[in-house]
Amino acid sequence: MSAQNQVRRVTAPDIRARKGGEPLVCLTAYDAPMARILDPHCDLLLVGDSVGMVVHGLESTIGVTLDMMILHGQAVMRGAKRALVAVDMPFGSYEQSPEQAFANAARIMAETGCQAIKIESGTYAAETIRFMAERSIPVIGHIGLRPQAALADGGFRAKGRTDAERQRVIDEAIATAEAGAFAIVIEGVAEDLAREITETVAVPTIGIGASAACDGQILVTQDMLGVFDWTPKFVKRYDNMAERTDAAVAQYASDVRDRSFPSQREVYTMKRSDG
Ligand code: KIV
Repeated sequence: MSAQNQVRRVTAPDIRARKGGEPLVCLTAYDAPMARILDPHCDLLLVGDSVGMVVHGLESTIGVTLDMMILHGQAVMRGAKRALVAVDMPFGSYEQSPEQAFANAARIMAETGCQAIKIESGTYAAETIRFMAERSIPVIGHIGLRPQAALADGGFRAKGRTDAERQRVIDEAIATAEAGAFAIVIEGVAEDLAREITETVAVPTIGIGASAACDGQILVTQDMLGVFDWTPKFVKRYDNMAERTDAAVAQYASDVRDRSFPSQREVYTMKRSDG
């Protein structure tokens, strides 16, 4: 492909510039073929640490490693040519110090070629975001329900139900934006809180279970495609992939048992006549 024909990749400043504009379309991706399908429709693909639960069958995201994120990040970068690809920093890879976060983020970016990283950003993370952003790492924050804090929080719980908690989420948003994140994922908060945050911060907010009051939306792709029996209440299912796959595999099993396949002679004849 010549340089002229190359598709221009969405950048962090492009996403930043969408504040208050056309809503950002974002989904998670973990592998190359799915990234290829999602890419033309999405502004941003997130290699979320949800990969641990969605793909590897873990109970939470706590067991996800840097090596896992890099492997999946490389695969998604091979499939996606246009969307900005952001890779999640897993639990334990950034909380210790800004220096630890920078070294691991730089490794993710160098080894995957992704355009940004995301960290879960309680107010404690502001110094780390600033340290990385000042050193040319495009950072997305993640506030509200923070899955990596689920054990400490006693589960995956919506946030902002009390006045104190509501203020804490607003503080997280302001600290994350002022520290230099170019976008913020808001997870699991009520519409009025999402709206207040979106009106308060200067960078785009990307909601998940946080209403349409955000500057964009993200979902776990397998949730919206209906891969699992259970999905969070806020997820609209656009397909029933589990049922369709089950039916297709049942048909395959039946064909195998009935020996209902083209004979090898037919296959080779077809190939020859195809040229
Ligand atoms: O890990 C993930 O997939 C995420 C999204 C749900 C925002 O953080």
